Amino acid sequence: MKARVLVVDDEAAIRDTMRMILEYDGHECLVAGSGQEGVSLAERENPDLVFLDVKMPGMDGLEALSRLRGVNEALPVVIISAHGTAATALEAGRLGAFRFIEKPLSKDYVLDAVREGLELGTLRRENRQLKSELGTRHQLVGASASLKQIMEQVRRAAPTNATVLILGESGVGKELVARAIHRNSLRAKERFVQVNCAAIPEELIESELFGHERGAFTGATEKQTGKFEMADRGTIFLDEVADMSAKTQAKVLRVLQEGEVERLGSSRTIKVDVRVIAATNKDLEEEIADGRFREDLYFRLSVIPIAVSPLRERLDDIPALIQHFVGQFSRDNNRRPARFSPGGLDAMKQARWRGNIRELRNVVERLLIMSDRDVIEADDVRAVVRPATRPVPASVGEVATATPATLREFKEVSERAFLVEKLREFGWNISKTAEVIDTPRSNLYKKLEQYNIKQESDG
Ligand SMILES: Nc1ncnc2c1ncn2[C@@H]1O[C@H](COP(=O)(O)OP(=O)(O)OP(=O)(O)O)[C@@H](O)[C@H]1O
Ligand SMILES: [Mg+2]
Repeated sequence: MKARVLVVDDEAAIRDTMRMILEYDGHECLVAGSGQEGVSLAERENPDLVFLDVKMPGMDGLEALSRLRGVNEALPVVIISAHGTAATALEAGRLGAFRFIEKPLSKDYVLDAVREGLELGTLRRENRQLKSELGTRHQLVGASASLKQIMEQVRRAAPTNATVLILGESGVGKELVARAIHRNSLRAKERFVQVNCAAIPEELIESELFGHERGAFTGATEKQTGKFEMADRGTIFLDEVADMSAKTQAKVLRVLQEGEVERLGSSRTIKVDVRVIAATNKDLEEEIADGRFREDLYFRLSVIPIAVSPLRERLDDIPALIQHFVGQFSRDNNRRPARFSPGGLDAMKQARWRGNIRELRNVVERLLIMSDRDVIEADDVRAVVRPATRPVPASVGEVATATPATLREFKEVSERAFLVEKLREFGWNISKTAEVIDTPRSNLYKKLEQYNIKQESDG
């Protein structure tokens, strides 16, 4: 592979030798006679690799090295020096040079360092790319006020050790919120251990969570470390927490209270330092009322409750989400990113997103797979999604005709109709309307966004 190599040395003879060796091997060679010149050349020319002398007048090699790090963290640097002392080598290594070669220079050593440096550079770039993709994969995308509020809650909750309970319908992004809390916490470098309480059979969940000793029960042929122990110093995410049996609930409560676990088949307790985040799409208060969930556990879990609203209450997030998923899809499949026409976007906003963001994501993928065109139009969208068919009632009197299917839908439909009626009555004057219906203005604004209520042009 042909490389662009920068040589920084105050001795002209060394620069010439290096140029000869490198160019003879087919590489491009840039030279600088001082640390200062080297750093600015690196900024301008973006080399693949740098050979850097240590002893130079003005800015010495070690300082230049740390500046180069600032220019490009992934840039591989080889230190060349006649004054190779252990201390300099150590310092250079600490600043991120991957090799140290001594003068007089040997052609083989130089070319060897070039090869190694190029490989290292490629690896570092790939690594950086992967990391940034990982970051975007778990990024909370959206522009709505509602999502901003959730992000603010995440920001506040993250650095504490408080237990967080994330509530919301299926597919709204509860897991993403949990990961965001961990990522922004002081435990970010430790593990994030996820347990899906609904997916693990009742008879296995305790050993999954707390571990077991060998022979603890029939079939326990090996000892197993529990998830709480694995998450020590990190975070455990108890997903679908409402699906735990009463017995498991009691044990989890004990871990939360005592900070210790006991493996099945052992009487020894093990101290664990674990931050707990739980999530559910069930209405826990209802579960408690029906005797399926312990109230004391609920109080322990919901020190910081975060409610993630359904997509239909934050339609403003849709364009950004679409763009995000289109980008992801085209990167994954090496395709040119498609675009949604304004009509296509509108059709997406009008669709009924029962499966929330997970469904939106699937629909975007399906549209991209099925269409070979660069622009997705409203018709394409309507062919795969169902619109929110139910007409929005224009007045409270019409609510009954909207045939809401659930209590929540009834409440929402009625609330929306009431607000529209009142807003009309007071000529869309927000302050006045808020005052009359006795709610803070901020709440009224929130509702307008939630229900996507816009002032009608004809009043
Ligand atoms: N704000 C967001 N930005 C980008 N992607 C999102 C966002 N919210 C959710 N997603 C994506 O939508 C999908 C569903 O999200 P997630 O698994 O976090 O939902 P959930 O609330 O845990 O759902 P369930 O209750 O079904 O477990 C995931 O692919 C996730 O990456
Ligand atoms: Mg989930």
